[in-house]
Amino acid sequence: MPDLEPDTVSALEAPEFAPAQFVRWFRDVAPYVHAFRGKTFVVAFGGELVQAGALNALVQDLSLLSSLGIRLVLVHGSRPQVNEQLRLKGFTQQFDRGLAPTDAAALECAKEAAGEIRLDIEAAFSQGLPNTPMSHAHIRVISGNFVTARPTGVLDGVDYKHTGQVRKIDVDALKFAIEKGSSVVLLSPLGFSPTGDAFNLAMEDLATSVAVALRAEKLIFLSSGQGVLNEDGTVDTELARVDADGLLAAGSLDEETGAYLQYASLAVKRGVARAHLVPFALDGSVLLEIFTHDGVGTMVVEDTLDDLRPATIDDVGAILSLIEPLEADGTLVPRPRSVVERDVENFTVLEHDGVIYGCAALHTFADEQMAEMACLIVHPEWQGSGEGEILLRHMESRARATGAKRLFVLTTRTSHWFMKRGFVQGGITDLPREKQNHYNRSRNSLVFIKKL
Ligand SMILES: CC(C)(COP(=O)(O)OP(=O)(O)OC[C@H]1O[C@@H](n2cnc3c(N)ncnc32)[C@H](O)[C@@H]1OP(=O)(O)O)[C@@H](O)C(=O)NCCC(=O)NCCS
Repeated sequence: MPDLEPDTVSALEAPEFAPAQFVRWFRDVAPYVHAFRGKTFVVAFGGELVQAGALNALVQDLSLLSSLGIRLVLVHGSRPQVNEQLRLKGFTQQFDRGLAPTDAAALECAKEAAGEIRLDIEAAFSQGLPNTPMSHAHIRVISGNFVTARPTGVLDGVDYKHTGQVRKIDVDALKFAIEKGSSVVLLSPLGFSPTGDAFNLAMEDLATSVAVALRAEKLIFLSSGQGVLNEDGTVDTELARVDADGLLAAGSLDEETGAYLQYASLAVKRGVARAHLVPFALDGSVLLEIFTHDGVGTMVVEDTLDDLRPATIDDVGAILSLIEPLEADGTLVPRPRSVVERDVENFTVLEHDGVIYGCAALHTFADEQMAEMACLIVHPEWQGSGEGEILLRHMESRARATGAKRLFVLTTRTSHWFMKRGFVQGGITDLPREKQNHYNRSRNSLVFIKKL
């Protein structure tokens, strides 16, 4: 390890360091890294995060995402900082979460606060001290007039003056910056009108508009709360949009969670794949939310996520990477890419958040009214929580739908798993004739059969 600094080496040599665990963890993260490379994430946070001193840690994690090829647009808020400026200048107005008019003095405060926060964020992205996560990171941060705003105008007789709403996002320029320019784009909650006026925008509205315009993979709100909580106080890690709308209608959420959830639901409804509420108080929360199965906050999706679906040709690479380690240790027979490509329509996959984490294939033998389930795999990180059984039940019903009366598997190492699920050991002569002809005697797989 010639490139490691002395401190890092000593950390690796510390007695509690478990190399196998580290390697396993690193490998488990790989499917997400592949799935999210080249995808766009919009990350939004209020000025409260900066006030709480959580900016540096967040920027370090965002730099890591950027170096993994994730395209980032950051949207910051500045409400507490604007309020502070107003207080310092002796104005009585204070902004809270709702819509409020912005007069000329408040607009000046908003500009000053935005400038200050932007510089703090740019400075944080410019760190590069050795022995820190930012060492060797060269992240370019770009800001600009990407957002056209329009005045909110007069509502119920109240003139909202310099309070505005997003009118248009310069999608081409944004895409150019994050794709061709490999830069992180940083947006302040201000927009400009064709008349040259600046308008004070709600950070949540801006972030949602940008995520929708870019058709982002993720919109992530960093919140001072934990996310949406279940009745027992645990975090509801995954929420279908309709359920999120139900909670919002019930009106039982706290103000901040409700506000973020409302925009998260809107974003998902308008085509953003996933929207998340993630607690900023937890160090590394963005990484945990993105790179672990359940995450640490609440993810809003159009439908529930743990999805079984038929495989398509685009899934071949993911299926092969599930198969490869099991071929290497002899659990599964080797299957060349061409075979998986040819048979891909026989496969069902389990997909979560864009990551394929399980598969199984069904081959039918109509003459004998039998079907074979092959290639049943659940990625090691997801094993042990019933996903294998979900796949099995699905394959059983697929087999039944083809008219099969019996389902069989050939296995060398998983016999007890199948026995526990109603399979009974059979012999080679119980297999369909075609299968008997191709039976690989040197592998000596055991035959297990289940009546459907
Ligand atoms: C077999 C497999 C698909 C099960 O997936 P899973 O999502 O972990 O399954 P479930 O959560 O429904 O079941 C987990 C249970 O099966 C047990 N189990 C896992 N592998 C087993 C095996 N090879 N033999 C016996 N039991 C096994 C676990 O210990 C756990 O038991 P518990 O519930 O008593 O704690 C998964 O372990 C896998 O992908 N294995 C490698 C590939 C393989 O062997 N495929 C079969 C090829 S024929």
